[in-house]
Amino acid sequence: MTSLAALFPWLITRLFHHRGIIGHQPFRGIGSLYFFDTLSSGIFGGALIISTALMICDSSPLEPTAIATFVTGILASVQNVLWVETYEQTSASQPLVVLCLVSAGFTIFIYANNMRTIVFVKRVVLLLLLVSLIAASTTYGLLKQKTITRHPVDDLVYKSRIEADRWLRHATVSTTLKLAVAEYKDRHHGRDPPQHFDKWFEFARQRKSVVIDRFDQIEKDVFPFWGMKQQKIRDGLEFLKSQPDIGIIEIAGGKATHNEPSDPSQKMILDDTVSMINTFAEHLPSMSIAINLEERPRVLVPWDDVHRYRMAGSKPGFQLLSGRLHRREILESADAVKLNPKAVDLPYVSAQKFRQLQALACPPGSPSRGGVHWDVRGFCSSCTLPHSKEQFLQDWEMSLDPCHQPDIFNLHDFHTTPHRFELYQDLLPLFSRSKTASFNDILLPLMRPDASLEDDGKALGIKSETVFWQGDSNVEALTHQSLHGSHRHRLVHLGNNASAGDEVPVLLGIGSGKDSRFRYEHTRIRDANSVMPFQFSLTRSAENCDDANCQLLQQEFGFEPPSRALDNRYIMLLDTADGPPPDLVRTLRSNSVPLLSTIFQEWYTERLMPWVHFIPIDFRFHGLHSTMAYFIGLKGRGSLNGREQLTEGRLEDAFWIAEQGRKWADKAMRREDMETYLFRQLLEWGRVIQDDRDELGFVLKD
Ligand SMILES: *[C@@H]1O[C@H](CO)[C@@H](O)[C@H](O)[C@H]1NC(C)=O
Repeated sequence: MTSLAALFPWLITRLFHHRGIIGHQPFRGIGSLYFFDTLSSGIFGGALIISTALMICDSSPLEPTAIATFVTGILASVQNVLWVETYEQTSASQPLVVLCLVSAGFTIFIYANNMRTIVFVKRVVLLLLLVSLIAASTTYGLLKQKTITRHPVDDLVYKSRIEADRWLRHATVSTTLKLAVAEYKDRHHGRDPPQHFDKWFEFARQRKSVVIDRFDQIEKDVFPFWGMKQQKIRDGLEFLKSQPDIGIIEIAGGKATHNEPSDPSQKMILDDTVSMINTFAEHLPSMSIAINLEERPRVLVPWDDVHRYRMAGSKPGFQLLSGRLHRREILESADAVKLNPKAVDLPYVSAQKFRQLQALACPPGSPSRGGVHWDVRGFCSSCTLPHSKEQFLQDWEMSLDPCHQPDIFNLHDFHTTPHRFELYQDLLPLFSRSKTASFNDILLPLMRPDASLEDDGKALGIKSETVFWQGDSNVEALTHQSLHGSHRHRLVHLGNNASAGDEVPVLLGIGSGKDSRFRYEHTRIRDANSVMPFQFSLTRSAENCDDANCQLLQQEFGFEPPSRALDNRYIMLLDTADGPPPDLVRTLRSNSVPLLSTIFQEWYTERLMPWVHFIPIDFRFHGLHSTMAYFIGLKGRGSLNGREQLTEGRLEDAFWIAEQGRKWADKAMRREDMETYLFRQLLEWGRVIQDDRDELGFVLKD
């Protein structure tokens, strides 16, 4: 009874809690999904409280506590036994010893308290079970293969080459317009290509675009708008026109113009975009588009709403959830999402609230949906598992999705710093340069006012064999929390200022030549750094450093004078607090090897292949040493863990990646490719906003 009474206030607070997050629209607060979330956790919590209470009445409070401790202890050590010989558990004996200790401790407890049964299980049975568990674990730990014969990166490089070829073939199927139209219909559930598709096709051929058939990002971005009434899209645009830092481009009568923002760098971006559009504007219908001139994305719609739009937008007969719902119901459900846009909490969304809003953009049941990740000390292996192969990043596209990795909210500046710009929870037609997977901005190729094109580093032949990263300390934007989780500070700390006791698992070679093998070994970070040519540093552009946060950085890391990245062989590319690394394209072109660690997507993200055009690095940096040890090699660099390292580097792989990246950037990421992308996107967009969009389309005349 008591526990039931306790359950109710809890349920109610949870309901209100959800509402608080959503803020301006109570309609969403009691949506069926939230209700389900709340109810299921409520029932679970209630059952737990009731059963514990019953047990305490029966015996003493000590008993359930001991059992809980015992069960978690056993589970944790079994988990560790299963991890033996992976990077997370390099020694087999340690978890076995822990398992024995936990079992012995619990046995003593049972006898000391004279417990004959433990939750319906006879004492003898439990002891027998424990003994067999220990025996099985020991056998497993001993039998588990001790070494790896093929380096996982070797495998990844090889497989990614094949994958890149396959991608390219899939992107360049069509050689004639007829084929392109057929391909389009095939990939769009039977929908005709937009009007003037023939003009686009001709344009793409003329600009020598290698990619003809594959524009997944455009489809993904535009798709939800197919489920939105045209009038709603127009209302959204009208609203955006009144918002700050939005550029408006008008296309009418075959000419594009913009609304002349007063900020010169914003004007430069719009000038450039307008000049790109004007190369094909004659084929576009009249329209206005709103462009986000801030670096951060701004449209963050709850998953529930986007899902309804997507369902409503899919063509009849191709519904995502076939059978259960009728088309009319789906359309009504999308229609019920009210559009009453306003920015969330102007002008400043705290980091905590920002994370909660992002959690809502994840599907129900996904690990990030809770919005908080309590364990800030331990490494979250379930967060990396879906996109990794052991220590290394395998599935880049997956790694960009925050919904399976709640620890991201503590480990990246984008999440740990407050969002200082307008943020909208309604699906608004806003075009942005970059976003994370949670956001619903439509990606658009925009120039970077800060990127100088002349300095492409090609002229310089000699590069020093270092792994280089340098970034500005951004003193103005520092907060207490960003000092603790910043991905940039973590990198500098890892490379220069690791604490004496810190360790990292490194995949080290044993033996040399033909029968060389590999094994994960825990290594002191300081020792591992001493054999690595890392050069990580912070610069300071701010004049003075009186601020306490700046002083702290100065003390901890020190500041270095700026130096030229492109003189180095390996260049780490990290996000800023607001967007992707600005130097990515330049580095790709420069013949250096890019080590890319990002959570953002841009228009060309789908075109880049990890391990082929760049080396992907997880933003947790737990595999950085192992990755670089593979490419650079440790031979002649000194000893680690008490022995001379003999593994040779795979420089040819590194050079190959640098060359592939350079060639690909010169082929598929040129200005002509931006134009081709933009043209296709505006054709799609020009159709989805028309009243008769379902009838419009390009049909090939025979
Ligand atoms: C951190 O590393 C930098 C570069 O090696 C060094 O100059 C600085 O003194 C270190 N700071 C601390 C607190 O050890």
